[in-house]
Amino acid sequence: MTLRMKTLVSGGHQPVLVEEVLRFLNFPGSRCIVDGTVGSGGHAAALLQATPSSVRLIGLDRDPEALKGAAKRLDPYEGRFSLYQASYKNLEEILNQNPLSTVDGILLDLGLSSMQLEIAERGFSFQKEGPLDMRFDPDSSKTAADLVAKATEKELSDLFWRYGEERHSRRIARAIVQARQLRPITTTRQLAELAQRTLPWQGGRRLHPATRVFQALRIAVNEELSALEHFLGHALDFLSPGGRLCILSYHSLEDRQVKEAFRRWQREGQARILTKKPIQSSESEIRNNPRARSAKLRAAEKLEPPAHGDAILISHRNKYRVPPFGGGQGGVDGERN
Ligand SMILES: C[S@@+](CC[C@H](N)C(=O)[O-])C[C@H]1O[C@@H](n2cnc3c(N)ncnc32)[C@H](O)[C@@H]1O
Repeated sequence: MTLRMKTLVSGGHQPVLVEEVLRFLNFPGSRCIVDGTVGSGGHAAALLQATPSSVRLIGLDRDPEALKGAAKRLDPYEGRFSLYQASYKNLEEILNQNPLSTVDGILLDLGLSSMQLEIAERGFSFQKEGPLDMRFDPDSSKTAADLVAKATEKELSDLFWRYGEERHSRRIARAIVQARQLRPITTTRQLAELAQRTLPWQGGRRLHPATRVFQALRIAVNEELSALEHFLGHALDFLSPGGRLCILSYHSLEDRQVKEAFRRWQREGQARILTKKPIQSSESEIRNNPRARSAKLRAAEKLEPPAHGDAILISHRNKYRVPPFGGGQGGVDGERN
């Protein structure tokens, strides 16, 4: 990362794979970029700094606190951005409020920010004592404590299996149901200690037994996978031909959804995949920002629909296309395509 870029992204959440995101989303002719998970504006600030002053940015986040951070960080670019408290799932409604019906770039940086994780009262971290909340949008109705209190043993077990890929999902579901009969489970510490007592853990550098339990609850509370699925069902409608979609995911459930959608679009001739393999952070980025360890970046470009009678019509922007990444960008897990 260049010194300039380091200065730009310092303060607040440290964005992941910034230069790679810019490489895909900063291209000539672009007019408008959507950051669907703007957070505290790390990627958005980098995009606004790198692109010409004619480029506009629309930032969305479900979390009003994150948006306050974004507004502050993006202040130097006043007049070039608008922020909305909304889910990227509802992007169509937001675009309807704007002069452009399609945009040239969309970024999703999924999951939660390090700031959300750090604030104990948000209840995302099993390492901090707080209410078992985990809502991105504090006005949404269901907290993690509600789920833990009301779901049946079978529902809990399915949830830990599907969203946490937890091998001992039945065991932890049974323990929760037994424990809640004695005392409601309302805090992060209660649940973390229960997971630690119930699930095997060799300690040391192995995943803490609460990790998958907390991940699964957060995904369920915020309906994260259905939001992504809904978005992927419509994403190409929001992009102009030649427009690009960049998605950063942090666990295999999300990454699988993105990979499958991109492959389907490519098979159907609707888009071309720009990342042959997902791009991952370099060792030096991971040293500076441990959150980068699990990040996978995939990008795709919407193709011009074939004109009547034409086999393939090349987009005016194709001449500026970046070459597809051939992998080897610090890849760790050796995923095969
Ligand atoms: C990893 S952070 C984004 C950080 C951001 N790229 C930055 O550089 O500051 C993910 C953000 O997505 C938000 N989020 C999660 N699900 C969302 C959804 N369905 N729609 C909009 N925002 C969402 C979270 O509230 C969080 O602020």
